[in-house]
Amino acid sequence: MAFYITTAIAYVNGQPHLGHAYEFIATDVLARHMRQRGEDVFFLTGTDEHGEPIADTAKAEGIEPQELADRNAARFLALMPKLEVSNDFFIRTTDEQHELAVQQFLQKVYDNGYVYQDLYEGWYCPRCADFKVENEILEGNRCPIHEIPLTRESEENYFFKLSAFQEQLEQLFDGQSDFVMPARAFNEARAFIGEGLRDVSLSRGKLTWGVKVPWDPSHVFYVWFDALLNYYTALAYARPGEDLTDRYWPANFHVIGKDILKFHTIFWPAMLMAAGVEPPQHVFVHGFLLASDGRKMSKSLGNVLDPIEAIDQFGVEALRFYLMREVAFGADGGVGIDGLKARYETELANDYGNLASRVSAMINRYLGGKLAAGRGDPELRAEFDGLDDEVAWLMDRFELTTALELIWQRVRRLNRYVEEKAPWQLAKDPAAAGELEIVLRSLYEGLRIVTILLHPYLPTTTDKLLAAMAPGDASYALARWQDGAGVMEQITPLFPKP
Ligand code: MSP
Repeated sequence: MAFYITTAIAYVNGQPHLGHAYEFIATDVLARHMRQRGEDVFFLTGTDEHGEPIADTAKAEGIEPQELADRNAARFLALMPKLEVSNDFFIRTTDEQHELAVQQFLQKVYDNGYVYQDLYEGWYCPRCADFKVENEILEGNRCPIHEIPLTRESEENYFFKLSAFQEQLEQLFDGQSDFVMPARAFNEARAFIGEGLRDVSLSRGKLTWGVKVPWDPSHVFYVWFDALLNYYTALAYARPGEDLTDRYWPANFHVIGKDILKFHTIFWPAMLMAAGVEPPQHVFVHGFLLASDGRKMSKSLGNVLDPIEAIDQFGVEALRFYLMREVAFGADGGVGIDGLKARYETELANDYGNLASRVSAMINRYLGGKLAAGRGDPELRAEFDGLDDEVAWLMDRFELTTALELIWQRVRRLNRYVEEKAPWQLAKDPAAAGELEIVLRSLYEGLRIVTILLHPYLPTTTDKLLAAMAPGDASYALARWQDGAGVMEQITPLFPKP
């Protein structure tokens, strides 16, 4: 089945940071898991390049916005392989095909009668590129997100009739309780609709850095309308000569942070409805990464976990694992280099890395690297029965952290099994040869299963380990206990001391 998943597209007025990396990695974990299950996955990410913040930053640097966008988009693009992110396409909202498609789409919204002209006056945050409603503004007319002073702006504008979709949005939410996940985010969005929707400004007359409004080229579209459309426009040109829209739309998951909830769960489905296009199936809203002291990460406080430094020190797989393990996906949580180091040593190097080394060493030493067919130890086997289904069930709900915990319980179980059975003792007793074979075969099967299930989190390490095993395939169908013969080569440590 088609499975279309997207991240938010990052603003190019700054460099990539850990918050971006977190979202890319989490989305990648689910994309890889679905590929393992044989789904027809399309994974989109990219950059959001128009709007006032980018125009302002470029101006401050004395360069053209396009130059700034090119420079920073290249940084985001280069980050993807460093994070082992397996996106199928990288969209830039300055792509000509995207700009044309935005114009066509919004022209349709206009033709359908959902756009009108009016005077707009309000409190505007140049960093958000957004007008703020009175009840969210901080004391002293400051932005609730950036805490910077807002400016009072008024201009002749085109408006999108969001209010016309009040009922349809209520129906969407009330008919599908997992349209927005997790529940806390759903409730927040539903409450916003419940307060009564007001029309929103669709264009900017003062700005030139954006997609021109086709029926009035003296305006550009408000950057959010141009940006949200990336999820839809990319499918038409991601593969030259092929239009993937029918194959992948509606998207299965848009993955976003909680600060951009309103745009994705309210504006976006309404825009799609206004053009007669189906809304996405789910929007998943993750939390924010904070410093380990619970404060916001900031360069001036010196509490930033820099993704590139973390990768240089511990490797990208450790960073991926740590972020997915440390902070329950969907909630906020603190992270830092000390926590990463601790999990690297105790969990990756000891729990998993040592387990793999010991199992491979013992299979080679005692059995010459070969395992005969057999059913293994029924007690241990029972503890792995149904694990694949449980993990898949959790992944369907984007429970990346809970799924990882479930897998890790089995990693720990295998370590206890080694201690309980002490194969090195069995090896001393010729009468225990049969039992030794059963114990090692069971460890091999358990290790193979957890390795397949860990594949989305640790793609390179698990590939390396599976390459030393036969069958060494990471497909999900093999994440169940097998009875056939097996082979395991001697391996080098998966997570050496950094
Ligand atoms: N350009 C808009 C999104 C448009 S999508 C049609 C934007 N860009 S952003 O660069 O500011 O943020 C990109 C993503 O990173 C958002 O989902 C945002 O929530 C997420 N994060 C930014 N900082 C974060 C943390 N500290 N922690 C977790 N995620 C955070 O918004």
